[in-house]
Amino acid sequence: MIIGVPKEIKNNESRVSAVPGAVQELVLDGHTVYIEKGAGINSGITDEDYEAVGGIILDSAEEVWAKADIIYKVKEPLKSEYKYFRPGLIVYTYLHLAAEPELTKAMVDSGVIGIAFETVKVGRGLPLLRPMSEVAGRLALQEGARFLSKVNGGKGILLQGVPGVDVGKVVVVGAGVAGTAAATAAAGLGAKVTMLDVNLDRLTELSHIFGRDVETLYSTKYNIAKSVKDADLVISTVLIPGARAPKLITKEMVATMEPGSVIVDVAIDQGGSTEYTENRPTSHSDPIFVEDGVLHYSVANIPGAVAKTSSYALCNATNRYLRTIAKLGVKESLARHPELIPGVNVANGKVTLKAVADDLGYDYVPVEEAI
Ligand SMILES: NC(=O)c1ccc[n+]([C@@H]2O[C@H](COP(=O)([O-])OP(=O)(O)OC[C@H]3O[C@@H](n4cnc5c(N)ncnc54)[C@H](O)[C@@H]3O)[C@@H](O)[C@H]2O)c1
Repeated sequence: MIIGVPKEIKNNESRVSAVPGAVQELVLDGHTVYIEKGAGINSGITDEDYEAVGGIILDSAEEVWAKADIIYKVKEPLKSEYKYFRPGLIVYTYLHLAAEPELTKAMVDSGVIGIAFETVKVGRGLPLLRPMSEVAGRLALQEGARFLSKVNGGKGILLQGVPGVDVGKVVVVGAGVAGTAAATAAAGLGAKVTMLDVNLDRLTELSHIFGRDVETLYSTKYNIAKSVKDADLVISTVLIPGARAPKLITKEMVATMEPGSVIVDVAIDQGGSTEYTENRPTSHSDPIFVEDGVLHYSVANIPGAVAKTSSYALCNATNRYLRTIAKLGVKESLARHPELIPGVNVANGKVTLKAVADDLGYDYVPVEEAI
């Protein structure tokens, strides 16, 4: 098969889908790998690094998209890339379609096969989302702490506190991968940490891991309102796989927070999990907006800020399935690796993931019927 690796074009997106070790494996498997010139440079990978392992550099995105059977990307295709879609082309990347009606329409109309990293599912785990959630959770704490400083518009709080002065309070909504990474980092600083989730088994597990370092609370509107009221930093990481994020933090709740507090909405890539951030993603070059005196951070590609770490972490997880798809084709790969079935969001003009179909008003067609 022919695999194409275009350069990412989202604002300040410095990651690349394929690192040299992965390109080498694909080439040794007998595939051809085309990489757009400069695609890896912001992750510290040169064109020569790719060429040394058998990758072929092409000058333009257009050539990469045109030659490839499988496009291997990081972020969802942007509008300027829709023109490259064609029937049967496999697009293997993060898609977040429930929050992207225009992209969904372009993919459905063109007949591409869209395999989304974030909905590949092993048991209850999302193995291709996990590495970026690990990064995003850690960075959410780091970025939140940065914007709590007075010079960045925050209330002027040092989360660690100092002897004689209280520590800050961090509230984490959603106790999955990103939430746990954020809470671990916050507890490591010695902040007061509260985690909320609807999954009681997960809360039990976390209370055994963290002990008294982290307070766990069942996630209800009442408990969220009570917790965020006196929080310095709120980090929201809720996820209902494939679906739009529920708007758990309301404008009314934000109004009760102290001015200069910070909300980091990690779940922005699924449409946003607060009433103010809903459909209001920000970018690394302009990450914050202020509503009701509270700073809202809703960058949709947080891991892009640490591209070198993130490209390797992501590729470690995604390349395994790419090799399978390239070797067996989509149909046979789904038969041998059923965890890939929920990864197929659109195929041959149909929406094949129920959560996306329901959210965006399409008829749902099971993958087995669409392919
Ligand atoms: N902005 C970014 O750059 C970026 C990067 C990586 C991940 N993400 C996003 O972060 C989100 C979380 O990812 P994850 O891998 O941690 O997911 P996860 O599935 O591991 O965790 C999500 C948690 O949310 C919980 N949840 C569901 N409904 C809830 C509710 N009503 N109240 C409280 N908790 C609830 C689930 O029980 C689960 O524990 C996803 O939307 C993902 O796409 C964003």
